[in-house]
Amino acid sequence: MQIETRNTTPYLDQKPGTSGLRKKVKIFMQENYLENFVQSVFDVLGDVQGKVLVLGGDGRYFNREALQIIIKMSAANGVGRLLIGKGGLLSTPAASCVIRKHHAHGGFILSASHNPGGPDEDFGIKYNVTNGGPAPESFTNAVYARSREISQYRIGAAPLIDLDSIGEFQAGPTTVQIIDAVEDYADLMEHLFDFKLISQALKAGSITLCFDAMHAITGPYAKRILEEQLGAPHGSVINGIPKEDFGGGHPDPNLVYAHELAELMMSPNAPMLGAASDGDGDRNMIMGARFFVTPSDSVAVLAANAHLLPGYRGGLRGVARSMPTSQALDRVAKAMGIDCYETPTGWKFFGNLLDAKKITLCGEESFGTGSDHVREKDGLWAVLFWLNLVAVKKQSVAEIVREHWKKFGRDYYSRHDYEGVDSTAAEGILALLNGQLAELPGKTFGHYTVEFADNFRYVDPVDGSVSENQGLRIVFTNGSRIVFRLSGTGTQGATVRIYFELYERDPQKHGQDTQAVLKELIDLAESLSEVKQRSGMDKPTVIT
Ligand code: G1P
Ligand code: ZN
Repeated sequence: MQIETRNTTPYLDQKPGTSGLRKKVKIFMQENYLENFVQSVFDVLGDVQGKVLVLGGDGRYFNREALQIIIKMSAANGVGRLLIGKGGLLSTPAASCVIRKHHAHGGFILSASHNPGGPDEDFGIKYNVTNGGPAPESFTNAVYARSREISQYRIGAAPLIDLDSIGEFQAGPTTVQIIDAVEDYADLMEHLFDFKLISQALKAGSITLCFDAMHAITGPYAKRILEEQLGAPHGSVINGIPKEDFGGGHPDPNLVYAHELAELMMSPNAPMLGAASDGDGDRNMIMGARFFVTPSDSVAVLAANAHLLPGYRGGLRGVARSMPTSQALDRVAKAMGIDCYETPTGWKFFGNLLDAKKITLCGEESFGTGSDHVREKDGLWAVLFWLNLVAVKKQSVAEIVREHWKKFGRDYYSRHDYEGVDSTAAEGILALLNGQLAELPGKTFGHYTVEFADNFRYVDPVDGSVSENQGLRIVFTNGSRIVFRLSGTGTQGATVRIYFELYERDPQKHGQDTQAVLKELIDLAESLSEVKQRSGMDKPTVIT
């Protein structure tokens, strides 16, 4: 194989965000754009001679073309072996699983997660390291720095690889192995959950289920595991064929975008469990019949009940949540006598805690839940967890959550997003708030007195690394909170996220409407931040 070294000029905008580099497809298709980023990763990695890398993506538009480029560049950079999911597909958690199981050096995951796909939509790429998790900030910062000065990349004149045939091919020094995208992941799930019990309940019809794959990556995984292995009736998985444009929708499992599922679950014909996953399979939404489980509650319920499931019988070492996620998890941890860590937004911050065996379970309010079985959040895992829980407890989803609230109290919780805000206006909103933080403590607004207000700063308890500017918190003396931050995953303008939380101990008051309960906090946040005037929007674009 002939190796070519090509000259290139840097792009200055290749800074990875909350989860890798995400841009419009058209930006990625610019000359050498992808090549520059991939070579920057190889340059930071150093010697990869003989090493194993994993490759796969969520199947969105440009996935296949991008993979062929990365294969040629891997060959030119001397990678020993590439493991690639059939069809160029691997869900994010499956990629993490494959990296760990096959002791790979790391891997490229091609995805823009829950962002829409298609020629005018989004594409993304991220590098995961040896533990199977997203590269830490020190690595992504080094890649960004490299991308700003890159002048050459290496690419091999390898033939196009047939991504659809399982088997081995040679591309120069690199063995390219096309693997079954589902098998390793399905094996892992079988070890964590009681497949026999779930299967009996599904076959007997005592548990009914609808899983919405949203035309994205989890279709093949859900069909294989839920329908073929566990015996859920055919048709339990809907929108199960991955499409390059996700059927034109946002593959984001929330009540707004997973409306087909949400409508079914709110109808008289609702099955017992409704669930959806996102573009790359790491997010999950859980619903019971006419009942929505907030992601913050979901991780707390899972933590409180994990000991009932085979993979977690030994108990939990500790738990963690991202800062904006509700404190429901903290209450469970306290009752169990285990540590609960508060990390910045983004899954990469859980990696060190999992590797150091400080935690077993973790989650984010943004429909992300996971455990030490991989180093990514894991959508289908969460669904199987809930299935197993419903089968063991022989209760409905709503009963399980209401019982949980009774025991621990309820954290009313909501997030309001203002999407597509002008970037300067969005920064102005955060700056306005930042300027007020020092004088807020002690001030009273209606029923709320500010206990403290700060710009969240995280010191990693394992390696001491510091992450600044991770969101503005206003915490009240009664434990309620308002959090403001800007999204780090968007590709157009800015998204302002405002998170609200209010704790209610009294079970008599657990049946109220969330937005109504949070109204006073919502009004306060809007007046302190001037979000409506400054964004020019009269309401949030998404409320979860
Ligand atoms: C969002 C979520 C965050 C999640 C990330 C990747 O990031 O808020 O919790 O880890 O997507 O799925 P954001 O856009 O807020 O930076
Ligand atoms: Zn995702």
